Amino acid sequence: MSAPKGLTRLAFGGDYNPEQWPEEVWQEDVRLMREAGVTMVSVGIFSWALLEPEPGSYDFDWLDRLLDLLHENGVRADLATPTVAPPAWFYRAHPDALPVTADGVRHAFGSRGAICHSSPAYRRAAAAITEQLARRYADHPALALWHVHNEYGVPVSACYCANCAAHFRRWLRATHGSLDAVNEAWGTAFWGQRYGDFEEIEPPRTTPTVRNPAQLLDYARFADATMLENFRMERDILHRLAPGIPVTTNFMTALTQGDSVDYWAWGREVDLVTNDHYLITDGRRTEVNLAMAADLTRSVAGGAPWLLLEHSTSGVNWQPRNPAKEPGQMARNSLAHVARGSDGAMFFQWRQSRRGAEKFHSAMVPHAGTDSRVWREVVQLGADLEALAPVRGTRTVADAAVLWDWASWWAQRLEWRPTEDHDARERADSFYKSLYDRHLTVDFAHPAADLSGYPLVVVPALYLMTEAAGRNLRSYVENGGTLVVSYFSGIVDEHDAVHPGPYPGALRDVLGLTVEEFSPLLSSERVRITGPGGAELSADVWTEFVVERGAEAVWTYADGPAAGRPAVTRHRLGQGTAWYVSTRLGARELDLILAAAGEDAGIAPRTGIPYGVEVVSREGDTGSYLFAINHTADDAKVALGAPGTELLTGERATGHLAVPAGAVRVVHLD
Ligand code: GAL
Repeated sequence: MSAPKGLTRLAFGGDYNPEQWPEEVWQEDVRLMREAGVTMVSVGIFSWALLEPEPGSYDFDWLDRLLDLLHENGVRADLATPTVAPPAWFYRAHPDALPVTADGVRHAFGSRGAICHSSPAYRRAAAAITEQLARRYADHPALALWHVHNEYGVPVSACYCANCAAHFRRWLRATHGSLDAVNEAWGTAFWGQRYGDFEEIEPPRTTPTVRNPAQLLDYARFADATMLENFRMERDILHRLAPGIPVTTNFMTALTQGDSVDYWAWGREVDLVTNDHYLITDGRRTEVNLAMAADLTRSVAGGAPWLLLEHSTSGVNWQPRNPAKEPGQMARNSLAHVARGSDGAMFFQWRQSRRGAEKFHSAMVPHAGTDSRVWREVVQLGADLEALAPVRGTRTVADAAVLWDWASWWAQRLEWRPTEDHDARERADSFYKSLYDRHLTVDFAHPAADLSGYPLVVVPALYLMTEAAGRNLRSYVENGGTLVVSYFSGIVDEHDAVHPGPYPGALRDVLGLTVEEFSPLLSSERVRITGPGGAELSADVWTEFVVERGAEAVWTYADGPAAGRPAVTRHRLGQGTAWYVSTRLGARELDLILAAAGEDAGIAPRTGIPYGVEVVSREGDTGSYLFAINHTADDAKVALGAPGTELLTGERATGHLAVPAGAVRVVHLD
């Protein structure tokens, strides 16, 4: 990963949309940026209509003045290609570039992100504006980073138009090689869906009843690949015309909205992984989803430092209810991202808009002005980030891995499953939360990745798993690893075809068991499972008939459809151990299983850290740093393995680090 050019401190700033303001305001903006210690802003994301007011006629004067002004004030620029928002004239000339839904409805101009990524006209226009920007600004001294597009996959993740149909056929030929291979992969013998000619194949548009699941899965892959083609096209122009400037596009890992993009693949294509994260304020502990997003982002960056490009200073305005952040919450959020590998904390947006759809979304400079809590906290955060400059470039230390795969995630959304109550994302959240509350820092990993560095690997409902991934997990365990697998994992291959033989085909060997039949529960039903020392837990959603074939039952169903059968099993294989959890346990209940698996893995329980205090380490050339974030309303103490200097207060810390209620402390260990 490459750092933004010329940035020597942590990135701090936000999306800056000065085109919404008269130029007098720009002067105040840069003065306030200096006051807050802003180091970088993202500009031009939605500026295409201003930069190219008519086809082929450009107006860069305002952007010249803006970049000069930023440079004079020591603020680096993350300059966008505005290709997420083509101008009205473009759509007038090319109405077929507007995306079409699966129901055949063509979207209209008047919002943003209305893009058919297969449209040749869109591709030409996007390449042209990208080239213009690259030629003009390649050598501008303010330029630190290229920000291609905005959040690929949002708000439109797939288009179903005629251009896409033709492009899909080309993609199928290239991917599968022949029509026979497509028929085989899609299982078109079922329901008489066989194709005799590529031209008969259409996108999976609305049908009378359930669509072909393998076709849907391939369409998700195609839509993702098509967006990636367009990203690469822009990136390659920028690399060619502006060498030395890293190129990024802002991801949305771990939010359900960003789920149409396979970030494992995209992470390898960008020069710097950047991410946007917003709190989903539905009453849950929002810091857990934040930590998960940050860990996932770091993982798609291969463990290297990444950058949080957007989050909010306070409330957003696109959820049903948008509470303001509590005092101190913005700093906790920002520094939790930094703890988990972000080399900075940036926001949407710098100055709160007066007009348009996002005027009630918080910003660094709120409508209330600078005599406001938000502004004072922004200024404080700028100072904190300045004090944390030495952590830049260091890497977050992880204790365990959770397997994650977007293809499996797409497959689990297909229809007609054993139960609609099973939610793969919920499983991932629960396993993650359980690990989080054990104070374990987690890397996410692709199922085929090298896992040998992790003592513990957790697999939350990875329904789609290739045989190769199954073999990978087997050799991981044989070589001494500890694996914990949830039900409904390893069931189908990459085309949603059930692996031959009893479930779970890809994992039978490593788990030492087979599953005879699934028996999901009715919505109000719960079952009891009993385990070591007569302990009892309650579970719901899923049961199944497990047959031990080498594994031993550690917990057993006490009632329900699988009464008397194994509920949680352990299999010793080679040097390692594989656990299987055949029912749905909540995060707290999973703790007992993960504690036992942790013992197998030789992970000592992290005592000395209170519940609700997040402790994460970063290490690198400049030393070791311990971040402690107190999400509770009580003052806390965290046991320190070594003494050090607390960077935000400058105080020495030995023995126990005091972390006041709601506060963050970062110790540079001696
Ligand atoms: C992001 C988007 C920004 C802004 C923000 C509001 O998803 O990239 O442009 O809309 O949401 O939360």
